[in-house]
Amino acid sequence: MLPAKNFTFHSPTKIIFGAKTIQELKNQINQKAKVLMIYGSGSIKKNGVYDQVKDSLRNHNVLEFSGITPNPRYETAIKAVEICKKENIDFLLAVGGGSVIDATKFISIASKYPGKDPWDIMPHKNNKSTNLFQPTEAIPIGTVLTIPATGSEMNAGYVITRESTKEKLTRIDQLVFPKFSILDPETSYSLPKRQTINGIVDSFVHVTEQYLTTFRNTKISDRFAEGVIDTLISEAPIVLKNPKDYSARANIMWASTMALNKLIACGIDNDGATHTIGREITAMNDSDHAKTLAAVIKGVFIYKKQQKMKKLVLMAERIYGKKEGTDEEKADFAISETIKFFNSIGMKTTLSSVGIKKENFQEILDRIETSIKIMGFGLGEHRDIYKDDVLKILELCDP
Ligand code: NZQ
Ligand code: ZN
Repeated sequence: MLPAKNFTFHSPTKIIFGAKTIQELKNQINQKAKVLMIYGSGSIKKNGVYDQVKDSLRNHNVLEFSGITPNPRYETAIKAVEICKKENIDFLLAVGGGSVIDATKFISIASKYPGKDPWDIMPHKNNKSTNLFQPTEAIPIGTVLTIPATGSEMNAGYVITRESTKEKLTRIDQLVFPKFSILDPETSYSLPKRQTINGIVDSFVHVTEQYLTTFRNTKISDRFAEGVIDTLISEAPIVLKNPKDYSARANIMWASTMALNKLIACGIDNDGATHTIGREITAMNDSDHAKTLAAVIKGVFIYKKQQKMKKLVLMAERIYGKKEGTDEEKADFAISETIKFFNSIGMKTTLSSVGIKKENFQEILDRIETSIKIMGFGLGEHRDIYKDDVLKILELCDP
């Protein structure tokens, strides 16, 4: 069996976890700092999170910037960059979900960007991944997470959409790791069902894109990954039935952070194909991130079944309890049980659920081609998925 790949694990974000921990904010941000609090479209005002933040920071100098939308827009973020420059902001506090946190990461880098056009921070069609601007300065960030989903609260990635060109792009910068993230599971009580489900599915796919890859002797990463998936499966029906079940909300929140803080990535290969295809669908029609993943994942699993076989077998045995049968039968079982789980919590797994019909395939393929040019390699853990493969994947998805 192959051993673990060499890896570097660096995780500088302090996690403050638990009920009523927002009051800790005042101790985490220097009182002399000029803070810009960044949030979305108002959910934090309805659920009391805004008041808790303001109360804790009552003796700090806090300015506000609101209106970050889901799939956060460059066009909005750039307005906050102007404020940061004009007001000499020296700390950014993101209060919200992945969209608010990702926008804040971009604002942090863009506010110190020495070039002319901050869009050039992102890898885009005239700006290849291999040739990217490497920042040396950024405004420090802290977060108060309100939706467990993306893992952005404990990683260095961010995804930004440019409305005018319908591009949705992603990059990683070590400088934007949050200094701290406050994870109070009670903040997620107010999530609409749709967002609770989105978060569970997004986290689940983050795990499978790491776990269901090359079969290596990576016992620690595998067992952590299985723990995260198992937790999502057992706690999902509980929070859907009782949104204020603290312990289930707490388990989901920590599972979701663990799904993409790179701990389960140690020593393993990284897939990412489902995310890359899903991201292009969102860029086309603004679908929810998690919904696109659920629509595409079955095609990726089936198309890559032979390469992923041994890990699918492990998943069938350890997660879904299937001990009997051939490897092929076990792999098929892991795939069908995963789809069944998504459907059981109310997540659709069809292309039509994210507005995609056969006539849209060509646009997806063109976009994937551009994305591969930007990255410089194919998709998937073997970097061997190209445009023609994506067509076959789309044809294997449920319409
Ligand atoms: O805008 P507000 O009013 O805050 O409402 C939000 C938004 O409408 C609402 N919401 C959040 N917390 C709530 C709440 N409503 C009630 N109660 C609460 N406690 O939920 C809606 C969705 O929020 P959003 O932040 O968009 O969700 P999510 O965390 O799923 O973020 C999705 C974005 O993150 C990117 C996605 O591509 C997408 O743009 N991702 C970021 C990653 C990363 N940085 O590592 C990785 C992911 O794979 C993903 O690509
Ligand atoms: Zn995701």
